[in-house]
Amino acid sequence: MTPKPRILVTRLLPAAVMERLNRDYDVIDNADDAQLSQEEILQRAEAADGILCGPTNLFDRALIEKLPDTVKVLTTFSVGYDHLDVSAAQEKGIALGNTPDVLTDATADIALLCLLGAARMAHSSAMTLRNGEWTQWSSTQFLGVHVTGKKLGILGMGRIGQAVARRAKGFDMEIHYHNRRPVNARGLEDAIYHDSADSLFKVSEFLSINCGLTKETRYAVNDETIALMPDGAVIVNTARGPIVEDAALIRALTSGKVAAAGLDVFENEPVLNPDYLQLDNLFVLPHIGSATVETRDAMGFKCLDNLDAFFKGEPIPNPITA
Ligand code: DGY
Repeated sequence: MTPKPRILVTRLLPAAVMERLNRDYDVIDNADDAQLSQEEILQRAEAADGILCGPTNLFDRALIEKLPDTVKVLTTFSVGYDHLDVSAAQEKGIALGNTPDVLTDATADIALLCLLGAARMAHSSAMTLRNGEWTQWSSTQFLGVHVTGKKLGILGMGRIGQAVARRAKGFDMEIHYHNRRPVNARGLEDAIYHDSADSLFKVSEFLSINCGLTKETRYAVNDETIALMPDGAVIVNTARGPIVEDAALIRALTSGKVAAAGLDVFENEPVLNPDYLQLDNLFVLPHIGSATVETRDAMGFKCLDNLDAFFKGEPIPNPITA
């Protein structure tokens, strides 16, 4: 009998995913879900045929070049792949896969939660209540930013950006977006395209960041671009932390230039810039965009579909290409 392919799984995955993994592969697991160092990954990858990693595992050029030659496929339990050096993997002949589509709706839901949570002061009002500090209803307390009819700028109009736009239309928001090229998407025929991010910032009373992290988008939200935005704007980030320059956003939230922000992602996760936590006008979540039972199972199964196809000699269904 041919031995099962040996797969290094760098993070603990949902039970249903682990079950299928263990059925079909010889698994080197991480039952404690420890954050493995690159050294530990290299040790565990010894004689592995493939790797299933998570978005917290940085596979940069240095690590990829040191991987044993037996490793021929790497699939990430995420749609984002800014933690993978795609060119280095291609040069080493490692096929790459990810998990698009299945987390679109869950992530778009969290974007709307962040948008509403920020606009309606969900954090400070809920904390007041929980701390036993709510003394009476008041016509002037917890006043948020009105959402209906406002202009929502979407930076990155891929699958998730489009799903955010559709949801926001349910709140009667006017949709503006910047993307590499205009999109022709069902239900979004009236969305207004901006051919530059600056042009989008200028109109965005609300801004939802839904692009991938690349050299071009790193720190796209900074002092200069925030200055372009209307006063009292609301910023939402459910994509990747380093698209926002933390210090700039903190300054703007403190001065009131930005009325509120809703963030599900941060630079240097899980360590959050401590200044954020001093701000009442910030609604924060710990990177839970895709965290539903159904979505996380589906992401794991996509990774397994990628591996299954690769080891059958078929094209990977969800390939990452440079
Ligand atoms: C992704 O898939 O890129 C998410 O950030 C992980 O939930």
